[in-house]
Amino acid sequence: MDAAMDRIRRVTLVWMITALVLFPAMTLLGYLIRRFQASPTPAAHPEWFYSLLTLHALGMVGTWFVSSMAGVSYLLSRYVRPSPAVSLGAFFGTLAGVVLVCLATVGGFFGAGWYFLFPLPLYPNGAWPAWATALFFGALALLGTSWLVWALDVLRAISQRYSLSAALCLHYLGASTEPEVPPIVLITTVSLIVCISGLVSAVIVLVLFAAHWAGWLNVDALLMKNLTFLFGHTLVNISLYLGLGIVYEVLPGYAGRPWKTNRIVAMAWSSILFLVLFAYFHHLYMDFAQPGWVQTLGQIASYFLSLPAAAVTIFGVLNLIYGASMRWTPASTLFVLGVLGWAIGGVAAVIDATVAVNFVFHNTLWVPAHFHTYFLAGLVFFVLGFIDHLGRELSPGEEPKGLSKFTVALLVVGAYGFVATFYWSGASSVPRRFAAYPDEVMRGAAHARTSLVFIHVFLLGMILYLWMAGRRCVRALFS
Ligand code: HEM
Repeated sequence: MDAAMDRIRRVTLVWMITALVLFPAMTLLGYLIRRFQASPTPAAHPEWFYSLLTLHALGMVGTWFVSSMAGVSYLLSRYVRPSPAVSLGAFFGTLAGVVLVCLATVGGFFGAGWYFLFPLPLYPNGAWPAWATALFFGALALLGTSWLVWALDVLRAISQRYSLSAALCLHYLGASTEPEVPPIVLITTVSLIVCISGLVSAVIVLVLFAAHWAGWLNVDALLMKNLTFLFGHTLVNISLYLGLGIVYEVLPGYAGRPWKTNRIVAMAWSSILFLVLFAYFHHLYMDFAQPGWVQTLGQIASYFLSLPAAAVTIFGVLNLIYGASMRWTPASTLFVLGVLGWAIGGVAAVIDATVAVNFVFHNTLWVPAHFHTYFLAGLVFFVLGFIDHLGRELSPGEEPKGLSKFTVALLVVGAYGFVATFYWSGASSVPRRFAAYPDEVMRGAAHARTSLVFIHVFLLGMILYLWMAGRRCVRALFS
């Protein structure tokens, strides 16, 4: 085996095994915060709820961003050569960032939420010490720098083989289909350009926070909210797109048919490059100071952002599997189910991104409902599918068919049962981010108690999955 390829494989296995450790840990934190909400009496220490919520959310968003990045980097190495050393550097930067975030939240009770909206982190009113804020910002700087360098390196690798316009498949919009560009190259290029703009915006936010803290500048809160959501919204969006890049590259192998770029695929994905930068405006619908035309633009961009990529992907998946002699393994099943979860969560998100609806659903549990759907039953399924695929490729072996089917069924029932209780609460106006519910929305506690049952089902599915796919990855790393 080529030594460079062997290094890429090993680094990818290290990333995936880390994701398989972090994900159950963050799920347990999610279980704990849902237990707070399930309690009929107010929590004795609500500060725990907010610091665990911050750790859970940043931990989950970070875990799925890095694992989808590692997945596409591995698959891209069929065409170009991203540097395994840079990926390993990003791994150690991420680990150090995780340690700092744990110290800030579990050690210092930092609880301003994963997107640390200005000015809360600087004015905690005694809820956490200043050092916890400093550690949290230090962690963000470290994570942001590591991921920025990693994203730049993957783009560098792509640029060594494809020009920018070729990587964006602009030639497909005309008459030419040469050079042939695999969809994963197009999707990664679009995603990482957007990712870089989000990370740069995070750098500006951190600098402005520091300047405000030092008393050099009186920062505008609306500007900070815009910049923060430009970062947060784009980061979660592109994690999903990178996950889809994995599906475009791997699923055809299970169908025995190619999934090639064509004019429609090129148009759909390149349009994202512009639209995604404006879609985050839907997070600011309730900010009366935001100009009206920006709100209108936000609604239009939110609608048009979701439609093209969803339409070509869903059509592409159906086209791939219809009449094909599909090889149904946990990987291919999770890919197809993941596209379904992405689509269902996407519809719920578009409903919420409609101004008239947002007026009612804003800050209710409908919001975690939609993003948990496309994360938990979408992106998580894509990456778990990829890990299963990678494990089987590097360390072949079969377990009883019934066991893999049962495992996938537990994950599906657990994930959908869990998010259903969020939808149910959201539609009943139960607010999000409440450590305990007041009497007016006590039904939220009953919904939370129901959700605990489904979290157990999901965790059982994860234990079986770890026993199957996790073991295989560990075996492959040490072989
Ligand atoms: C079974 C697994 C999971 C459980 C039990 C869980 C549980 C929860 C709960 C109870 C909340 C608080 C809801 C509220 O009142 O606002 C929450 C928020 C959140 N979760 Fe999860 N979650 C899980 C998976 C995930 C995944 C896979 C992701 C992302 C990839 C994720 C990202 C987030 C984020 C970003 C928030 C919002 C935090 C905020 O509002 O500040 N979660 N989760």
